[in-house]
Amino acid sequence: MREFHSVEEYSTASAIKILPRLRRARQSPNAHHLPATTLPRVSLRHELIAVVGSANVLTDPELVAGYIVDWTGRWHGTATMVVRPETTAEVAAVVERCRDLSAVIVPQGGNTGLVGGAVPAPTMGPPVVVLSLRRLNAVEPVDLMAAQVTVGAGVTLAQLHDNLSRARTGLEFAVDMASRGSATIGGMIATNAGGIHVVRHGGMRAQVSGLEAVLADGSVISRLDGLVKDNTGYDLSQLIVGSEGTLGIVTRARLKLVPSLPARYTALLALDDTQQAVDLISEFRRSTASLEAAEIFYPDGLALVQRHAGLAPPFPRSYGAYLLVECAGRDDAVLDDLAGLAESVGAEAAAVGLDGPSRQRLWEYRERHTEAVNALGVPHKLDVTLPLSHLAQFETDVRAVVAALEPSATVIIWGHVGDGNLHVNVVGPDAADDSIDDAVLRLVAQFGGSISAEHGIGRAKIAWLPLTRSPAEVAAMTAIKLGLDPARMLNPGVIISSYLT
Ligand code: MLT
Ligand code: ZN
Repeated sequence: MREFHSVEEYSTASAIKILPRLRRARQSPNAHHLPATTLPRVSLRHELIAVVGSANVLTDPELVAGYIVDWTGRWHGTATMVVRPETTAEVAAVVERCRDLSAVIVPQGGNTGLVGGAVPAPTMGPPVVVLSLRRLNAVEPVDLMAAQVTVGAGVTLAQLHDNLSRARTGLEFAVDMASRGSATIGGMIATNAGGIHVVRHGGMRAQVSGLEAVLADGSVISRLDGLVKDNTGYDLSQLIVGSEGTLGIVTRARLKLVPSLPARYTALLALDDTQQAVDLISEFRRSTASLEAAEIFYPDGLALVQRHAGLAPPFPRSYGAYLLVECAGRDDAVLDDLAGLAESVGAEAAAVGLDGPSRQRLWEYRERHTEAVNALGVPHKLDVTLPLSHLAQFETDVRAVVAALEPSATVIIWGHVGDGNLHVNVVGPDAADDSIDDAVLRLVAQFGGSISAEHGIGRAKIAWLPLTRSPAEVAAMTAIKLGLDPARMLNPGVIISSYLT
């Protein structure tokens, strides 16, 4: 097990004398086993202030508080300080100082992650630096010829959408999701975020042409040239997508854009059950290219959202399942697509949004599920994908599995039905009790699904990774991690194993 000294205040002068010796020591293969007493006593804080300025090194517990707990309140930890660099060079310098002083780094974007991957663990041992990327928030001019744009990691999704809409280039960014106001592009790349348009455009991975990232040794890799074809060995950008800050810290990204589609319509369809939704969507996507989103939720979730948000019911009576469908295209032919779908369920069971406000009203029933569930209590969030052929059976069985274990638990399910992705949220069992998580994820594995569809592994799902990744795959992932970050300083304890193991 590694041992670390705690962070104390020492003079910068002594730090300067000691650093070269430390660098030499850390080149030794056993450097991370150095006992605490032999580690140099230098001031991490002073070193980092020298890089980013004192206003951007936060140690006041009140200021640090918002960076060490996640949005649900389930994942929280401790940090020695929060550092807020503004440029890639500053990020690289912060990484070097942390490496030299045996501190670990937890990279953080908008802190909207749901698996504890962007907040520190309760006790990590070494000094912990939360490295906030939010100040890297530049959106560069759109490259019209390539239909791409380069943005800083701290740009929020809403900021990117707004920028592109103001630029009137006829291009937009394909990914969208409810947390658009806070989620940052860097965090979305790190988690390979999905969202509501995966059914048409794919998730973050599909939009990344290349990226710039700082590796654990402080070096910078940069693939921002926007080349459509580049077959020169390993695709390092794509390796970092979805690596949750464990392989490198994303600082900038070159993103692909898609043509904006002026005709956009939304329908909420009231159905009997999940199977009807799966059948409708499977048939619909075979017959049209305009499907932009296909989302599902259920009567208990709808009732909760209505109460929480004070919304009127969408239909005079309750149904077994609700399917929200959005179509987009160049002209109103897409309305015919949607009208055909609505007619297939009958006029009384379909509500159609023809303009921005009415579409928005329909989306609220779906997008406000997360906050409504959070208002009930700290949820167990299980974000799973199933083969579409098993989705309906899984939805029935998972409710029974949870009810058998914890009859008083509240189970609210919604998700991206077009992708076979359900968000199973369970409120009631203690946050530390993972028996529900275990039962649900085992059921997913039995059905041939994945234990994480779009939220990632973080700290939350590590124990269950072997359910759906083979020993050979986990070994390969561990080898990549240790190859790029032998001292395990980047987001230790996320995805594969804790630095303590
Ligand atoms: C969603 O689709 O609503 C998001 O993934 C967030 C969540 O699952 O709470
Ligand atoms: Zn989702």
